[in-house]
Amino acid sequence: MRILGIETSCDETAAAVVVDGTQVVSSVVASQVDLHARYGGVVPEVASRAHVEMLMPVVAQSLVEAGVSGSDIDAVAATVGPGLVGSLLVGVSAAKALSLVWNVPFVAVNHLEAHLYAAFLEDPTMELPLVVVLVSGGHTMLISMEGHGEYRLLGQTLDDAAGEAFDKVARFLDLGYPGGPLIDRLALDGDPRAIAFPRPMLNDGLDFSFSGLKTAVVNYVRKHPDVGAADVAASFQQAVVDVLVAKARRAARDIGARGICLAGGVAANSQLRMRVLDACEEDSLHAFIPSRSMCTDNAAMIAAAGYYCYQRNGASPIDTGADPNLRLSVL
Ligand code: KG4
Ligand code: ZN
Repeated sequence: MRILGIETSCDETAAAVVVDGTQVVSSVVASQVDLHARYGGVVPEVASRAHVEMLMPVVAQSLVEAGVSGSDIDAVAATVGPGLVGSLLVGVSAAKALSLVWNVPFVAVNHLEAHLYAAFLEDPTMELPLVVVLVSGGHTMLISMEGHGEYRLLGQTLDDAAGEAFDKVARFLDLGYPGGPLIDRLALDGDPRAIAFPRPMLNDGLDFSFSGLKTAVVNYVRKHPDVGAADVAASFQQAVVDVLVAKARRAARDIGARGICLAGGVAANSQLRMRVLDACEEDSLHAFIPSRSMCTDNAAMIAAAGYYCYQRNGASPIDTGADPNLRLSVL
């Protein structure tokens, strides 16, 4: 089954063609980072206008790169939420129009569920149950994945998402936007033990809290204006990664997981990837770590999740709307 996936939930316009939920034959991502960088964050109105301009060229390119035409597509899957409503509407409307023109099913995809499927595109040996560490700009969750579409929420952030903390600390340090990759790079030149930032809620259940850590960074830098930015970046990153890895390991022990899977934009973080690999080796767990380009927003993961959703539930009603607050449906 050859599925065209469409992703427009935030600031990437993306389209991909994936066969049977596992073989990526094309994946095109047009990033709007340059458009938003000067504002220090995503401007929703700018994002939706850019999606309108970019989406059809990106879809056309994904078909050309896959060597197929519209008549070869068996279903169209699109992110319906969560995300920015104006951005979501562009992708959802286009996907429905294409499914009507090509007379193929439309499949509504939850963006969070799609992040989970990114790892399986590259490593289909799904060893269940799995602890998924879903860390993006808008979400931080520990999930027990027990089957396709079967998720249990083990923990989540009580305030800022991990990616949001990276972005806010980067903005405070005047590094630019998006902050995660910039902190990741700067931290390479810093000492992660230079500053003992707090590890919020480290030994306290499986929920997270990152807003106090962000405030601790701000207070420290104000008090020590001569501190090196690289040491701040490395020490902050170490604190976030310590908490994420400790809780993922504990969750894996609690549920008797066979592996740990990283998902979402923050899963591109080099320190987090290394530490999860080490932890999995020590605890004899399978590490599912998608390539960096599969961690951040893309449409291959949408087409993959769409394939499994279609197998479970068939086509989505054509009047399915965009839902900016869509949640992951859990057991
Ligand atoms: O999944 P994603 O592309 O979009 C959302 O669904 O939110 O995640 C974007 C987030 C941003 O906060 C960005 O700063 C963060 O992922 N990010 C990183 C890295 N690359 C992206 N955070 C830490 N280290 C990275 N290398
Ligand atoms: Zn995302």
